[in-house]
Amino acid sequence: MHPIALQLFYLFTFAAISPVLAAYCKLSPSDKSWPSPEEWSGLNKSIEGTLLRTIPVASSCYPGNPFDSPYNCSDVTKHWSYAAYHSAWPESTDYSIYSNNSCVPPGADGYSKEKRCSIDGLPQYIVNATTENQVSTAMAWAYRKGIRTVIKSTGHDLGGRSTGAYAISIWTHNFNQIQHLLAWRVPGSNETADVVVAGGGNNWGSVGTVAHQVKRTVVGGEDATVGLGGLILNGGHGLLSSHYGLASDQVLQVTVITTDGRRLVANDEENQDLFWAVRGAGGGQFGVVTEFILKTHPVPASVVTGSLTFYPRHKSNESENASWAALAETVAQIPDLMDTGITGTVTSVTGEQAVSLLGLSEAVPGAAVFVSLTSYNSTTESMNATLHELESQITEGHHPHLNLTLTPPTSQSYWSFTKPNYLASQSAGSTSLLTSRLLGRPELFSLKRENLIDYLQQISVAQDTEKGSMLLFGMQAGLGPANVPEKRRGSVLPAWRTAYAHVMAYGASVNATGDPRQALAAGAQWYETVKEPVWRNWAPSSGAYMNEGNPFTSTWKHDFYGENYDRLLETKLKYDPTGSIFVWSGIGSDMWNYDLHSGLLCRVD
Ligand SMILES: Cc1cc2nc3c(=O)[nH]c(=O)nc-3n(C[C@H](O)[C@H](O)[C@H](O)COP(=O)(O)OP(=O)(O)OC[C@H]3O[C@@H](n4cnc5c(N)ncnc54)[C@H](O)[C@@H]3O)c2cc1C
Ligand SMILES: *[C@@H]1O[C@H](CO)[C@@H](O)[C@H](O)[C@H]1NC(C)=O
Ligand SMILES: *[C@@H]1O[C@H](CO)[C@@H](O)[C@H](O)[C@H]1NC(C)=O
Ligand SMILES: *[C@@H]1O[C@H](CO)[C@@H](O)[C@H](O)[C@H]1NC(C)=O
Ligand SMILES: *[C@@H]1O[C@H](CO)[C@@H](O)[C@H](O)[C@H]1NC(C)=O
Ligand SMILES: *[C@@H]1O[C@H](CO)[C@@H](O)[C@H](O)[C@H]1NC(C)=O
Ligand SMILES: *[C@@H]1O[C@H](CO)[C@@H](O)[C@H](O)[C@H]1NC(C)=O
Ligand SMILES: *[C@@H]1O[C@H](CO)[C@@H](O)[C@H](O)[C@H]1NC(C)=O
Ligand SMILES: *[C@@H]1O[C@H](CO)[C@@H](O)[C@H](O)[C@H]1NC(C)=O
Ligand SMILES: *[C@@H]1O[C@H](CO)[C@@H](O)[C@H](O)[C@H]1NC(C)=O
Ligand SMILES: *[C@@H]1O[C@H](CO)[C@@H](O)[C@H](O)[C@H]1NC(C)=O
Ligand SMILES: *[C@@H]1O[C@H](CO)[C@@H](O)[C@H](O)[C@H]1NC(C)=O
Repeated sequence: MHPIALQLFYLFTFAAISPVLAAYCKLSPSDKSWPSPEEWSGLNKSIEGTLLRTIPVASSCYPGNPFDSPYNCSDVTKHWSYAAYHSAWPESTDYSIYSNNSCVPPGADGYSKEKRCSIDGLPQYIVNATTENQVSTAMAWAYRKGIRTVIKSTGHDLGGRSTGAYAISIWTHNFNQIQHLLAWRVPGSNETADVVVAGGGNNWGSVGTVAHQVKRTVVGGEDATVGLGGLILNGGHGLLSSHYGLASDQVLQVTVITTDGRRLVANDEENQDLFWAVRGAGGGQFGVVTEFILKTHPVPASVVTGSLTFYPRHKSNESENASWAALAETVAQIPDLMDTGITGTVTSVTGEQAVSLLGLSEAVPGAAVFVSLTSYNSTTESMNATLHELESQITEGHHPHLNLTLTPPTSQSYWSFTKPNYLASQSAGSTSLLTSRLLGRPELFSLKRENLIDYLQQISVAQDTEKGSMLLFGMQAGLGPANVPEKRRGSVLPAWRTAYAHVMAYGASVNATGDPRQALAAGAQWYETVKEPVWRNWAPSSGAYMNEGNPFTSTWKHDFYGENYDRLLETKLKYDPTGSIFVWSGIGSDMWNYDLHSGLLCRVD
């Protein structure tokens, strides 16, 4: 059937049988209409033998290696915390709770003795695609059969958006070509741009390396193992975003394979609605992006970094108060610092987490803070002056109550600062659940100081008080995103244009050995009652960065999409009318319920 006819057929079918819609679910292997082995084999033939039956890598850790994992258990266990390994394993994602902890190695978060290794919470089959035809054929096949499709690049998603039970997974990993073009004509204009043309499965380490070889750079993620796909499609911040705008603001063209198998090139001239939608509103929502064309930028002449650490000197109320006041002063300075070209992070930790992160002699009440600043094309003298000024601002009147260390700034080349280290990120294999908010000058600087202190204390609360929690201010918005011309902005949450900091807050104690559905629901409930209300009071009209946000917040439409939601819903229904691809807090996701326990994805209306 012609794709459009097919689309109409589905729309019509759904409309005609609407009373039964409540029972409509994506197929699972227990359905009669689940494809037979012969049908799967037919699909495999039509995609040049690139279909993989899912083999959980940790299968070798279970008696008899039930799925014949080619990796031995010690190998898997040793590498479970490395983001780079999950990226290279076809079925694996960084945070196994979102795959219902279906096959986790002993000792890892989510492992329990009682649970056998299964593939039930993982995709059933994976397309190890290298051509657009294979992607298109497999997606259209799944669309016709009513099988859920998921898209995995690296599997880094913090909210489990690159995995799903009973799905067929399109693994973009091998779309890894990269080409630099000096003067690519921007469609719809007479301008040319210096660009990289990059396959959708690349990571920032490889794109950054190619850019370096041609003496250019790109706006991308800070970690080499992070993929282009998920980062760009949800906005994406990095070392240069506060200068040049978000990663999605750099996109000049994409090639998308839609769920019904069409290959669409989208840019300023054609398929503009799709082009707008994919620049910010969502990975895994409109189709598979097989290629990005990204604007490059000049390499900064130097990178100067310096830092400041402070924490309560004693276990006393004076020390505790001094640390909160000092954190508030630091946070209030973020907009002005960023307006001078500075980027970096402010990390505040409490409880035992502060002891381990900053090496304190004992847990002290209050905030332990690490301020890390970066500037480009600048000097150590200038950074030194900035740090000393910041120090005197934050310690005014509090000095005897704080332990404070200033690390003298150093300068290095941009490449030595950004050179990929694929084994640096060991954040995988844990349990990920957080909440975040974009904060602008009114929320950081203009508030009465005591109100700011109040919010900082409320948002730093931890479910386990002794353990404490972390609050991370990323200086990643500011003038860069604010100055991006309208036409390059795409659908990314408009709050990015007035924000300075992207602030991530943690603190839920998720029961890693519990039933994932219950454990996530409990964690989500805690954020919803304890932290989300703080954000909503602090910055009511702002929102959050979906890639590093709480996928279960009740105000997700407002928080992740803002005023763009209705237009995005129209676009989603146009390009994925049958909901082949679903992600939590995705556009139109309220029409579906994904139950981790049954593994079923069902219509709810
Ligand atoms: C170690 C680490 C460091 C990070 N650093 C940063 C950072 O510096 N800046 C930042 O902004 N974020 C950062 N993040 C968050 C990051 O943006 C998200 O984890 C994001 O989901 C990663 O995208 P991915 O493609 O690598 O991951 P995946 O989990 O593979 O994909 C994420 C989502 O995008 C979809 N997707 C991926 N590729 C495609 C494609 N080609 N076409 C269509 N859909 C696709 C998937 O379906 C999924 O919904 C970091 C995360 C980690 C784990
Ligand atoms: C797909 O075909 C290839 C090549 O014949 C084969 O190696 C592979 O096992 C097949 N995949 C499945 C799921 O049967
Ligand atoms: C497991 O595999 C690694 C290499 O991947 C190898 O070095 C090691 O010896 C193997 N261990 C066992 C117990 O087989
Ligand atoms: C996926 O395909 C690539 C390219 O053809 C190949 O090198 C790789 O071995 C395949 N991976 C798996 C797990 O089959
Ligand atoms: C491109 O240049 C031509 C000739 O100068 C001009 O007529 C045309 O309007 C320009 N197009 C755009 C989109 O700027
Ligand atoms: C650094 O300086 C170069 C050369 O003047 C300039 O092109 C570039 O935009 C500057 N980079 C930043 C991040 O300010
Ligand atoms: C700190 O203040 C609390 C009340 O806010 C009080 O109960 C406690 O005794 C004080 N501790 C010290 C060390 O002063
Ligand atoms: C600490 O701050 C609280 C509230 O800001 C205040 O009530 C209290 O008096 C302060 N305690 C000390 C010892 O400064
Ligand atoms: C603060 O520094 C002093 C002096 O070095 C040290 O004795 C004290 O233990 C430090 N406080 C904490 C909480 O580590
Ligand atoms: C850093 O700045 C401080 C305060 O202005 C000054 O005393 C110090 O000498 C400077 N250090 C360097 C290395 O420039
Ligand atoms: C975590 O879940 C397991 C399994 O349901 C349960 O036995 C355990 O008591 C839970 N732990 C906590 C701290 O709630
Ligand atoms: C998910 O995990 C729970 C508890 O471990 C288990 O009872 C359930 O059958 C699993 N469901 C799927 C689809 O894997």
